[in-house]
Amino acid sequence: MLVPASVADYRLLAQRRLPRPFFDYIDGGAYGELTLKANQADLDALKLHQRVLRGASNIDTTTTVLGQKLAQPVILAPVGLAGLYARRGEVQAARAAAAAGVPFCLSTVSICSIEEVSAAGTAPFWFQLYVIRDRGYAKELLVRAQAAGCTTLVFTVDLPVFATRYRDVRNGMTGGASALGRLAKLWEIVRHAGWLLDVPLGGKPLTFGNLAQAVPSARSLEAMKVWVDAQFDPGVTWHDLGWVREHWNGPIVIKGVLDADDARAAADVGASAVVVSNHGGRQLDGAPSAISVLPRIAEAVGDRLEILMDGGVRSGQDVAKALAQGARAVMLGRAWAYGLAARGEAGVAEVLALLKRELEVTMTLLGIERVGELGGDAIDRW
Ligand SMILES: Cc1cc2nc3c(=O)[nH]c(=O)nc-3n(C[C@H](O)[C@H](O)[C@H](O)COP(=O)(O)O)c2cc1C
Repeated sequence: MLVPASVADYRLLAQRRLPRPFFDYIDGGAYGELTLKANQADLDALKLHQRVLRGASNIDTTTTVLGQKLAQPVILAPVGLAGLYARRGEVQAARAAAAAGVPFCLSTVSICSIEEVSAAGTAPFWFQLYVIRDRGYAKELLVRAQAAGCTTLVFTVDLPVFATRYRDVRNGMTGGASALGRLAKLWEIVRHAGWLLDVPLGGKPLTFGNLAQAVPSARSLEAMKVWVDAQFDPGVTWHDLGWVREHWNGPIVIKGVLDADDARAAADVGASAVVVSNHGGRQLDGAPSAISVLPRIAEAVGDRLEILMDGGVRSGQDVAKALAQGARAVMLGRAWAYGLAARGEAGVAEVLALLKRELEVTMTLLGIERVGELGGDAIDRW
């Protein structure tokens, strides 16, 4: 039995526990997965600057993001369909995040509804909204999120269309599977008995909690894709942000920015933060890694809004590198999804604890006591 020591180990456990189509849905990226790979490879390529004998004995990983205190500079990114990876997965993840003192962001396309996560009595959580055509529906979601006590709105702007993920097509996740393909999917489900008992048999109802009227079933991605194709609006512009601002009474985070001018536009429309992100390599394949464009965006707008970053973060060392390159905090996507799929709430808690420990050790070895001191000097540029 594998005793997980790293996020990579939780990924392996998730792979064992989930039917292949669901594991691939989490793990995969768009088209040739070039950007997916670049996110991690470019983080790996950065070298940390070891310093010694600097008396770093009081390591403090706490920080603030949008006025909220965090135990470490980490936020759980919106991850759709989490309730398919473990029973009532969003509630489990929100609980783990609250216990660890970091924010949880609920996806528009979650299995658990805004109200179910709120009723679980976790700390105030964040809510993520996609750009959707039906403004009445979008408004209703914003009203529900605010009524549930969500503090911060994450407005995701890098999914005006759904990019193709070859793994999902091959696995029949987006429809069009042959009879043989459907049989293969069924076999994958049946042979993962632990997951079968936990989720399809024990985790009902398996619907999109926030979109129950619009998308009746969460059993295949096909229904969601049809909804996305009909609802996601590639015609949206920065002017439409005014509408969001009008209906949200709190900080707005624009997620999915890779360009300095776009980051300036986000500041101009009154956003409080941007997430430098390529959607974890799931959208524009061939786009640069998030970590590689982070410094230029931090340089351009770091004095006007808070800079968050996601994509490829799998360790406390990665967190340190992102902060050194200009992020105030990172969002974790797959890292928490693997933890959840592997071991539910405990898995998310363990992933958060191990990242914190890794960050503490890394800061000690860098000779840095506070996360705010993680700057350009923490990167070895030789
Ligand atoms: C399975 C999965 C589902 C996701 N669903 C959403 C979503 O519903 N909304 C959103 O804004 N981003 C979504 N993302 C993107 C994440 O919020 C985040 O940007 C990305 O996962 C970061 O990269 P990482 O997975 O390498 O950490 C999803 C990512 C994954 C892996």
